[in-house]
Amino acid sequence: MADSQRKILVTSALPYANGSIHLGHLLEHIQTDIWTRFQRLRGHQCYSVCADDAHGTPVMLKAQELGISPEDMVEQTRQEHHQDLCDFHVNYDNYYITHSPENRELSELIYQRLDDAGYISKRVISQLYDPQKEMFLPDRFVKGTCPSCGAEDQNGDSCDVCSATYSPTEVINPRSVVSGATPVLKDSEHYFFDLPQFEDMLKGWLRSGAIQEEMANKLQEWFAEGLQQWDISRDAPYFGFEIPGAPGKFFYVWVDAPVGYMASFKHYCDQHNIDFNEYWNADSDAELYHFIGKDITYFHCLFWPAMLEGAGFRKPTGVNVHGFVTVNGAKMSKSKGTFIKGRTYLDHLNPEYLRYYFASKLSDGVMDIDLNFDDFISKVNSDLVGKVVNIASRCAGFINKKFDATLSENVAEPQLVAEFQQASTGIAEAFEKRQYNRAIREIMRLADKANQYIDAQAPWVTIKDESKQQFTHEVCSLGINLFRILMVYLKPVLPELAEKSEAFLNDTLNWDSSQHLLTNHKISKFKALLQRVDSDKVNAMIEASKENLQATNNDAPPVDSELSKDPISETISFDDFAKIDLRIAKIAKAEHVEGADKLLKLQLDLGGETKQVFAGIKSAYDPASLEGKLTVMVANLAPRKMRFGLSEGMVLAAGPGGKDLWIMEPHEGAQPGMRVK
Ligand code: MSP
Ligand code: ZN
Repeated sequence: MADSQRKILVTSALPYANGSIHLGHLLEHIQTDIWTRFQRLRGHQCYSVCADDAHGTPVMLKAQELGISPEDMVEQTRQEHHQDLCDFHVNYDNYYITHSPENRELSELIYQRLDDAGYISKRVISQLYDPQKEMFLPDRFVKGTCPSCGAEDQNGDSCDVCSATYSPTEVINPRSVVSGATPVLKDSEHYFFDLPQFEDMLKGWLRSGAIQEEMANKLQEWFAEGLQQWDISRDAPYFGFEIPGAPGKFFYVWVDAPVGYMASFKHYCDQHNIDFNEYWNADSDAELYHFIGKDITYFHCLFWPAMLEGAGFRKPTGVNVHGFVTVNGAKMSKSKGTFIKGRTYLDHLNPEYLRYYFASKLSDGVMDIDLNFDDFISKVNSDLVGKVVNIASRCAGFINKKFDATLSENVAEPQLVAEFQQASTGIAEAFEKRQYNRAIREIMRLADKANQYIDAQAPWVTIKDESKQQFTHEVCSLGINLFRILMVYLKPVLPELAEKSEAFLNDTLNWDSSQHLLTNHKISKFKALLQRVDSDKVNAMIEASKENLQATNNDAPPVDSELSKDPISETISFDDFAKIDLRIAKIAKAEHVEGADKLLKLQLDLGGETKQVFAGIKSAYDPASLEGKLTVMVANLAPRKMRFGLSEGMVLAAGPGGKDLWIMEPHEGAQPGMRVK
């Protein structure tokens, strides 16, 4: 080991508990997981924690929409997220939730210390309020006419047409997207955190190399604009923690979210007898790294270090910012089937393909990363199957069959071995600096060398020559050893392939394993280590992502943050609405669809005409119970070819979703074919 044992704590940003884990999230979790595994492989103490981000208005409204308590919803989502991550071999020491006792306690403590030190002030502000829903409206929950150019139907804080930004109170004819009511201005007292006090400290911290150069430059712009007092309170109703001594006032979600990093670690420390303070005290000698996407830099590089400093805790050693995932060159899109959930991916493809592909593209920069499926297929097939695994599969059979499954005493080509071993330093440095793409390039360069060596020796020819048995044995043994060294280097990226390789090699790999060879060593039977990517499966995954769109009404894009995302889709005009032909239909027949987890195939009787529709209501209904019931259908929807057949319309069902989607009983008075509007 080059350096002595380090104590490290790493985190990934906490996914919001109101949407599924998708391939964008996975870039971050995979980046973090590779780094964590690398540190552990090198013998360092490296803990990693994450959690679901449970609080805020979008979570609260989504739970209301589903008709369940926010506590239940976020706990369900947490479990689902955790399972998704585990299935991608992303292993956190703890995957917790911000709605926890530890987080409440730490958030209160930090707030108390900030208040005692004079960093909290109060002031009355006037904000838009939904009188019907009786709640204040975050900017993105207000829509109306742009005060600058007059474009209708713009967001409460910015205009898509003229790009103006403004305050929601300036919007003309504003309306609440929650209830449709006209918001009114209402006064309320808010709590503010005195960020400007921390300007010098923050500038110094940024100079310490805590963040990539390009992001540090971005932050300079924020300093130039001048730091502002940060509004840290929200009025009830709000799903969050109530501010101590301030009934009806809650911490804004972005106050307790980063504290959630500490809380998740605290929960872990308490169960495993680890000294939490050693990692968080102001004089801690442990390293702390946050992996985040570029959209949340402001929170992690300004507010968070200032809160920590103000409350007497240590600041992060580094905030590692990454770019966004695009798919086939464009923003992930539901209609193109490129908004792919982690679970949908797992239903079709091996998680290690994605880990490898992301690793081959990730650098320490903040550029966006394009997941191009043609490139994905060819990279995985040619690099992993065609190069790396190929080395082992070309040599293993001969060792197993001809040489008693035992590697030779001596291996050929000491120079080649030395080259593979010396590469360890450069590859380690690349992983350490998060230049995974550089590490992968170097590993693949070595894999090419190993294959060229085997090609040149042609053991499949020499094996037939009795006089060349020892030579053949040494060549194949070298091949297996070179494969083994490559698997050491790939182990942080491909834990499952590494595990299978360890079983085959009859050995346990850590980083230093690269520096010695396996000689006179028994290996196990060689089993196929990795399948090629099948392009049909990629296509099926994309199709299934489109199906999600049609099949579930609750699949609206996850509402990610009050600050950055739009809670409802664009509106349509009355004329658009008038075009929709809604009819009562009788469900003549309902059956399961082979291979579809959400769909039922329905034959709908419109009083003379029959239409076939695939509907995403399988979770709610047993098909037999549907026959004879009435539903409302969109009768003039253009037919759509789905993976399972033609769908000639869409049925409408009401209710919170899941198991509760209501369809009418025939005695409720409607007749098949009747117009609904
Ligand atoms: N809950 C906040 C984070 C709080 S951390 C104290 C949040 N959640 S999020 O679910 O919207 O995003 C979680 C992480 O995923 C963020 O780092 C975000 O940048 C990242 N990504 C979300 N979509 C992404 C892509 N399309 N591509 C890459 N990363 C993306 O923000
Ligand atoms: Zn405008």
